[in-house]
Formats: sequence, structure tokens, C-alpha cells
Amino acid sequence: MQTVTSVVSGRPLPVADRTVRSVNPADLSDVVAAVSLARPHEIVGACRTAHEAQAAWAAVPAPVRGRVVSSIGRLVEANKDRLARLVTREIGKPYAEALGEVQEIIDTCDFFLGEGRRLYGQTVPSEMPDKQLFTFRVPVGTAMIITAGNFPVAVPSWYLVPALLCGNTVVWKPAEYAAASAHALYELFAHAGLPEGVLNIVHADGPDTFAGLSDALVAKVVDKVGFTGSSRVGSRIGSLCGLHLQTPCLELGGKNPMVVAEDADLDLAVEAALFSGFGTAGQRCTSLGTVIVHESVHREFVRRFDAVTRSAPVGDPAQDVVYGPLLAERFAESYEKYLGWIGDRATYGSTGVGRITADNPREGFVGDPSTGLYYHPVIVDGLEVEDELFRHETFGPIVGVMPYGTLDEAIELADLPGYGLSSSIYTTDPAKVFAFRAGIGAGMVSVNNSTSGAEAHLPFGGNGRSGNGSRQSGQWVLDQFTRWQSLNWDYSGRLQKAQMDVAVIEPDPDFRLDA
Ligand code: UN1
Repeated sequence: MQTVTSVVSGRPLPVADRTVRSVNPADLSDVVAAVSLARPHEIVGACRTAHEAQAAWAAVPAPVRGRVVSSIGRLVEANKDRLARLVTREIGKPYAEALGEVQEIIDTCDFFLGEGRRLYGQTVPSEMPDKQLFTFRVPVGTAMIITAGNFPVAVPSWYLVPALLCGNTVVWKPAEYAAASAHALYELFAHAGLPEGVLNIVHADGPDTFAGLSDALVAKVVDKVGFTGSSRVGSRIGSLCGLHLQTPCLELGGKNPMVVAEDADLDLAVEAALFSGFGTAGQRCTSLGTVIVHESVHREFVRRFDAVTRSAPVGDPAQDVVYGPLLAERFAESYEKYLGWIGDRATYGSTGVGRITADNPREGFVGDPSTGLYYHPVIVDGLEVEDELFRHETFGPIVGVMPYGTLDEAIELADLPGYGLSSSIYTTDPAKVFAFRAGIGAGMVSVNNSTSGAEAHLPFGGNGRSGNGSRQSGQWVLDQFTRWQSLNWDYSGRLQKAQMDVAVIEPDPDFRLDA
């Protein structure tokens, strides 16, 4: 078992009297790490260190920072299987998916290494002679990044890579239950040659993180906050940042709908429902929440979805399974509460509901269920709009189904829970595709594809309860980690006043062509 501590300016903080254990959820006897927790004043100290290192990092030419990003990508690539194995061990993500997650970091580095040679500003014509206008992207300053553990390395990289590329310094607070994976990623970044203080990692619990962030904002050593996690905590972080006139980058929960139209390829839709509902044990922010199926194919869809889910391999994440255990004990606890919402509704998809045990077995389970936090997949048919299962994110292997009559009704149902991250439609009719795209409130729309599994260079983010409209990934995230600075440069030798000293060319407004 390793001990994981915070690292500030390249130096580990002394091991604290308060530690938590990060445990393998597929084998609860396997303690992956003891995580030493920092206190609020240490978080402020880390932010101050990052703040002091920022000007020198911003002075490094962007193409040189791009080369560092390139080195990070190559180091991650060379350590791909090791990092993926650690992710599988620490949070129970199936190994094939964990490899995909690590690939997402490499893809992100590949995109941003070139951005070091772009990071374009503009030249803009002036309304007066002998005057030039320009725009520059300038780094925001020091970013505090707080991330969840369901994507313990890929989602952090969506913040860290562009933040560093743009000339910001960073304090990263990963999830405690994924601390070893986070530390490994930190090591790979550090070995790419980042100067001391440019990237710092702190481990802390939720309340101390909030207190430390609040103090750091007061001390003016944090200029930007990035947060991926629940809508409830995101709203608290948003209001804290608002007090300091800051706009955080918030990536929050989802209750992602999949609409299956009467003309859909049903087998394709079922395959996608299985992957997006039960992949990662339903613990992606992009996981499928509710399938909204046209009433004419509703019964047949449920029949096929049930059959495919019953035969899906669930179990040991080191093997070839659709999903493994839940992330950690606390997720199992909250998931048990959501299972209570099922009530007496019809369920499908497995030989039981709830935790998979010797007394509540799943047919065809891969491995030994008694060692880990394994749960049956559940399909709940016949949801109603007032059901909590319909309205709230459930973060686990549970998918609701409900029928619809018209496409307008389907879109209304899809938006009703008030989230707005990802959505999907299965149809062979282009008119339905474009009506759905125009009508849906989600930030991301898939056509004949899963609600999850976004590519790493399209804008990623949501609306409503899913976020504050910020977008990550690709060129769009540059607006999170830079601010526009305009420059107006007058070399005419006199004071030219905008709007007042502007030449006017008079038209002849009464001119008409011969009739
Ligand atoms: C998340 O669950 O926070 O689109 C992110 C996807 C992944 C990222 C999910 N690429 O499903």
C-alpha cells in the first residue's frame, strides 16, 4: 500500500494525522493507498505557491509550453497500460475502458501541443487612420481544479492540459477515492519538466476543500475554478465564486435521455442503451438516464433491452465485462437510496435487484461477487413524470423507460428533469434528427450513438442543472483559461476620438435607377 500526500512546488507535504483509505472496489480487502489529507491553510498555501509561479510560467513562450504538453502526452502513452491498470484497480473501471480513458489524455495532449503554436489573437481594422487594433489571449492566472473520480485521469486532463498550455498555474484537488491514480498522473505531468510550483496537487475532503478555496479566493491567489461533480456542490461553488466575481467552469450531473423513434433500428438502439446505461456501471455524467420510446415499439424495445442486459457480462473489471463494481463505498450507499425509488414498478435486466451476493446472485456473473461492490443492472419500465427516478440523476446501473406519442412530447419529456448535458436520438428520419436537435436543451446531441463517449475535441458541457454553460475540450475550452485583452494603438501623432473623429462618406440616398 502506498501513502499518497499532497505535493506543492515539487515537495510532498508531511504525512498528516488525518488519512483516508482508497480501496479497490472490486476487492475490498485491497487497500490501494492511504491518503494524507491537507487542511484548508495548506490548500491556501498551495494556491499561493501556484500564484507566485504564474508570471514566470506565462513568460515561457507558448510554443515551448506546447512542447511540454507534447512530452506529457508521450509520457502518458509510454505508461498507458500501467496507468490504466491502476485506474482499474482503484475505481473498478473495466480495463478496456480504462485504456480508453488514458487514450483520452493522449488525444487531449495531441490537440493542445499544436495550440501552443496558435493561441491566435486577431488584428482588427480601426475606424480611424494610423491606428491599429489587436486582440490577445492572456492567461487567467491560477486555477484551482476540483475533480471527481469516475474519470480519475481523463477528465482532470481536460482542465490541466489547456490551463497549463495557456500559461496558467494549477492546484489540483482530485477525488480522495481515486488519489493513487491522480498521483500517478501528477507524476507524469511533473516528469515532463514543468517548473516547480506550476502544477500542485492537494488531497482533502469536501468541507476542507471548500473552506480552503474560500480562503484562497479571499486571499486573491485563485483566479479560476474548475469543478466536475454533483449539481448540488456545483451550485455551492458557483455561488462562492460569484461572490468574488468569478465565473467557474462547472461540469455537473446529467439525466441523459435517449429517444427511440418508431423508425429506429431497434437492435442498434438496444446496443447503445446497454453501453450508455450500464457502461462504467452507469457512473458517467453522460450515462443514459431514461429511454423515451415511441409507443408503437415500446414493448418490443423493452423485450430486447431486457434480453441483451440479462446476458451482458458483469463482474471482475480485469476481465472482459460491460461493467464492474461501483466506484467506492459511499457511491454504493447513495445508490441503495436511489434503488428505494423503484417501488413496485416492473424491473428487467437481471436475476435480481440491488447488491449481487450469494443470496441475490446474478446469472453469469464473472468472478466472485462477494469481494466487491457489485450491483445488478436494473431496467425500470413505466416511469411517470413525477417519479424521483425520472427526475434525478441516479449514478449507478439503472435505466428508466417510458413511452411517448409525438416527437414534441418526447422532447418535452427529455428536457423535463432540468438537466441538459447529453442526449441521444435513434431514428432513420433526418427530419426528426433536426427537430430533435433544435428542440432539445442539452449541450450535446448524439444521433444513432450513445449519450456517453464524447470525442475529446468537441465542446463538452451542459446547461440547466448540468452546468453554467461553460464548455471544455477543443478550441472552446480556451475561453475558460484565457481572457481577451484588446489593444488599440494610435500612431497618428494626435488624439483621435472614437465615434467622433471618424471620417464620414456621404451617400446620395435619393438616387433611383431609371424606371
Ligand atoms: C464524465 O463522466 O464526467 O463522454 C465525463 C464521455 C466521456 C467523459 C465523461 N468521454 O462519456
